[in-house]
Amino acid sequence: MTVSGSWARAARGAMLLADDGELRPTIFAEMSALAARTGAINLGQGFPDEDGPSAVREAAKRAIDDGVNQYPPGRGIPELREAIAAHQRRFYGLSVDPDREVLVTAGATEAIAATMLALLDDGDEVVTFEPFYDSYAAMIALAGGVHVTVPLRAPDFRPDLDQLRDAVTDRTRIILINSPHNPTGTVLDREALELIVELAHQHDAIIVADEVYEHLTFGVPHIPVSMIPGARERTVTISSGGKTFSLTGWKIGWLSGPAELVDAIIAVKQFLTYVSGSPFQPAIALGLAMPDGYFTDAASTLAAKRDVLSAGLRGAGFEVSRPDGAYFVIADAAPLGFEDAVELCRRLPELAGVVGIPLAAFIRPERRAGYRSMVRFAFCKQTAVLERAAQNLAKLRG
Ligand SMILES: Cc1ncc(COP(=O)(O)O)c(C=O)c1O
Repeated sequence: MTVSGSWARAARGAMLLADDGELRPTIFAEMSALAARTGAINLGQGFPDEDGPSAVREAAKRAIDDGVNQYPPGRGIPELREAIAAHQRRFYGLSVDPDREVLVTAGATEAIAATMLALLDDGDEVVTFEPFYDSYAAMIALAGGVHVTVPLRAPDFRPDLDQLRDAVTDRTRIILINSPHNPTGTVLDREALELIVELAHQHDAIIVADEVYEHLTFGVPHIPVSMIPGARERTVTISSGGKTFSLTGWKIGWLSGPAELVDAIIAVKQFLTYVSGSPFQPAIALGLAMPDGYFTDAASTLAAKRDVLSAGLRGAGFEVSRPDGAYFVIADAAPLGFEDAVELCRRLPELAGVVGIPLAAFIRPERRAGYRSMVRFAFCKQTAVLERAAQNLAKLRG
């Protein structure tokens, strides 16, 4: 039987469809299976190995016991929408209307999916940085869009602003940015954000800002693009409780933006999941209202973990990036004599008892030159685990 349909567009977009029509498993699945099979420390997939705050988890249990188990309202429960609006005001001075400008989604993933499906017409261009989070390419392809990228190059993985200028044209419908950035940890500065807003105005594009790592920056501020003058009326901002509260499996995400954009996105979202996660919604509302100390501690704890893993990788002979945010460090294996990170990652459990993801997984095949020897390692793991990984990695030096 031939299975036709849009799956092939998604798979091709996500670089998972071979020329012979074979659907390949994602490298994430392959590496997680490898970690499970070998017992190696899994620094591949970016999920924390400790659960988030007990107060938030307790609130979800209470909600279940209190009968918060049926469909919530389509936009999300008012309490969570108000907490999201209060969060935007408290941290960034941004004012959003919880009734018309906020939408709760099944993780940031659904927010991205619904936004692309709602706002793209066939052939519309979407500009992202490259490497990019893998769902972008799949969703742009599913929505019939054309993916245009601006490379982020080692060693600092900052965008070249002239290349950004060249990439955005009148064909651009969406500039999709992600700061702090997965996989490189780049945090966009004001100059880059101002240019993005200027280009969006010049070419009448919408900005979609994936800010799921907004609270996880190390010594540099996270500036939501909506704070830049002129951005607010054309920006959809996406975030999620998964990263901020180390509760990635709850899949409570949200977006905020001008009411007419939110209405268009709801028109799609209602037929994807309609709603999700009712007992988790009040719990995340409670989390968003936690004192500042929670948010600053989460970032400083993670910064210390970054340093533990980075020191281990450096000691093993890798050239290591210095991410300003998010969960990941990029390590170049070329100084160790490994030019092909895919091959290295397949052998790393046996060589050093550790699993990483080749950076190529976040880059289209024709753009991989210059990145082939690089590996992404996640440092959102317990310090003792990272210390063990660092010791193991020392074996690479022989
Ligand atoms: C950049 C980025 N956006 C979105 C997501 C997905 O977030 P969620 O788990 O809330 O769907 C992730 C998760 O890894 C991510 O790294």
